[in-house]
Amino acid sequence: MIEYKNGVFGLHGEGFSCLLRVNAYGLLEQLHFGRPVRTEDAGAFLCHPGLGWGESVLLKEDDTESCPDGMPLAWSGSGRGDYRESPLELSGVPTDFRYDSHEIIDGIAQMESALPQAKGEAQTLKIKMVQPGGELTLYFSIFGGVLTRRAVLKNTGEQTLQITKIMSSLMDLPGDYEMTTFDGGWIAEMRKHTLPVLQNRVVNESTTGFSSHRHNPGFLLSSPDATEESGTVYGFNLVYSGNHYGAAQKSLQGFIRVVQGISPSNFIKALKPGERFETPEAVMAFSERGFGGMSEKMHRFVNTCIVPKQWQHKLRPVLFNNWEGCMFDFNHRRLVNLAKDAKELGCELFVLDDGWFGKRNSDKAGLGDYDVNKEKLPYGLSGLAKKINSMGMEFGLWFEPESVNPDSDLYRAHPDWALTDSFTPLLSRNQLLLDLSKRQVRDYIVEKVGFTLDSAPITYVKWDMNRHSVALGAKAHEYILGLYEVLDRIFTPRPRVLLESCSSGGNRFDLGMLCFGPQVWASDDTDPIERLTIQGNLSYLYPQSTMGAHVSAAPHAQTLRTTPLSTRGNVSFFGCLGYELDLKHLLKLEREQIKEQIAFYKKYREVFQFGTFRRLQRGWQVTKGKTALAATFRTVLPAAPGYETLALRDLEEEKCYQFSTFAQKLRIGQFGSLVKHVAPVDLDPNGMILRTADRLITMPDGNQKLTASGAALMAGVRLLPLFRGTGYDKNQRTLTDFGSDLYIIEEVETLENT
Ligand code: DGJ
Repeated sequence: MIEYKNGVFGLHGEGFSCLLRVNAYGLLEQLHFGRPVRTEDAGAFLCHPGLGWGESVLLKEDDTESCPDGMPLAWSGSGRGDYRESPLELSGVPTDFRYDSHEIIDGIAQMESALPQAKGEAQTLKIKMVQPGGELTLYFSIFGGVLTRRAVLKNTGEQTLQITKIMSSLMDLPGDYEMTTFDGGWIAEMRKHTLPVLQNRVVNESTTGFSSHRHNPGFLLSSPDATEESGTVYGFNLVYSGNHYGAAQKSLQGFIRVVQGISPSNFIKALKPGERFETPEAVMAFSERGFGGMSEKMHRFVNTCIVPKQWQHKLRPVLFNNWEGCMFDFNHRRLVNLAKDAKELGCELFVLDDGWFGKRNSDKAGLGDYDVNKEKLPYGLSGLAKKINSMGMEFGLWFEPESVNPDSDLYRAHPDWALTDSFTPLLSRNQLLLDLSKRQVRDYIVEKVGFTLDSAPITYVKWDMNRHSVALGAKAHEYILGLYEVLDRIFTPRPRVLLESCSSGGNRFDLGMLCFGPQVWASDDTDPIERLTIQGNLSYLYPQSTMGAHVSAAPHAQTLRTTPLSTRGNVSFFGCLGYELDLKHLLKLEREQIKEQIAFYKKYREVFQFGTFRRLQRGWQVTKGKTALAATFRTVLPAAPGYETLALRDLEEEKCYQFSTFAQKLRIGQFGSLVKHVAPVDLDPNGMILRTADRLITMPDGNQKLTASGAALMAGVRLLPLFRGTGYDKNQRTLTDFGSDLYIIEEVETLENT
């Protein structure tokens, strides 16, 4: 609910209030953003500077209340006495916008440009601020527990304005906070780093032209004592896929200034008289229930206001992707055989990755030429897709439409379509970016991809983008607008197509891309131990339904680590499950295990994809209705480990639940020469008998089953002991390093065995 009372704007969402006031000087003060209060409480948050701070610039001499540098603000000027970070810079010309008028709107205020925005049940406050020659409109929208903001600048003067920096949001928050950012690189996305916010500025910025895996646009501010369940946490994000900027810095007066928007690095926009520029939408969520409470709000927001309507809460298929299994080496027959196997295992969607078009037999050529390679696929995409459909599976296809190999017909015909600058082009993965700020380029992509999608029964697209371009420079924002236009033109008329975006994995995991396609390939790193970090840290800001998570072969292509198949499944379950490996090499017992995994996932898919997600001490939990699923993950197992306790969340104290293990099996081979301790005869650990037994026989691992109240399970259930160096016992958990356990918690009528 948004209201205006006695000069104060009260923005009240689920679990938060934001109070703003226009002060005597027309500046917009940020009185409060935090736990719910009444609009009438504004007086409690007013700052009374008394004698002020010695060196202050005053808007009115002798009025210490008129010092912009000491006011908590929701927007500020530059070069006008507020020396903290400014939200708007016009190439050195001062800015000083003051309140003019406001409007409260039911619903959202539609974006004017191609920028995507949050949609859904909302209320919006529109505040108009003016200065000679300029008009600035600030939008504040409430979507349940989330607040969004953006700004639109209009040139009302007669001179062109050079915008060198324009933020979507600025707010001053009192208190002590730490800032957490999620940084990384290829196959190493989402490393979590936390720093205290002091008087030096902490910046989270991407300058590659894209949101990037170097620094995800989302970041957090948390009180130093915050835990998963308690303490104050603010989450911030941006509905944008280009260069972003987020910063926090504490003032001498004790306010932390937080700004969010497009990165000012290399940014310049000439705004001619009469023109308008609008920023992307900034997103923020407040929680006084710790990191978990903040994540819950962000997840709900993404699931209901960001992803396209037709995919909201829609179950996602279990897919098979041929990339890690085949790379560029495939033909119709090999794909059909893979598809048969994938179908038998339970996969529902077969995805053909890179290499199906032009002369794309390696990453050196062909990018840009989306004509089917008839040598590999003599029956075309339509022949292949129909064959796969006839097996009972859907068909999906990979594209990388934003780039071009110089060795391609497209580049030979239109070398000027590639982004270049005055220097010799610098290639990366043998490719250049196409200039999406050009209409002909956008039309080409829309036509080529659109034609292909209509040429065969294709219900899924993996939209890849593997290399950034140093030549983007000041065109970065225009490029992103071009990309959004292209995505809109291709996918809005084809709502049946499930779009999964990808950028060498998670190099463009952001809310902008999620407005067009509901899921993102989280990382090229499919090692489950790495995925614990990647998916675990993505979960702070993005729900499980947005994360493509695949089981691949071990040792892993990215780490050479060998992990149990059960752990690969258990980690991937907490996302949109897929398989990505050469199926023909699977052992029979591995096939059986994968079949069981897929059947299990399908049974609980709604809980995995859309349940409430919790980060537990050593694992993850999802809960929906009467069912919860919880996994505990181990990295390196210590010798002689003690008992482990699993404290669950989100159950009803008084209700009864059955707690049981998702049964897992142990391979004989993993015990090597230790088998002699249990086998009646002396077996050679490298001999034929044991090698054959390893392929055929499995042993059950500790299966726990009990019934208990929600209260007891939340207090902490004692798990079966881990392997302690004293032999095999089916009532212990014998899984080794990188092992994991998955538990099903289902509400039942009565307590049975306590
Ligand atoms: C990078 C992606 O992240 C991979 O999954 C795969 O699609 C390759 N590109 C194909 O070139």
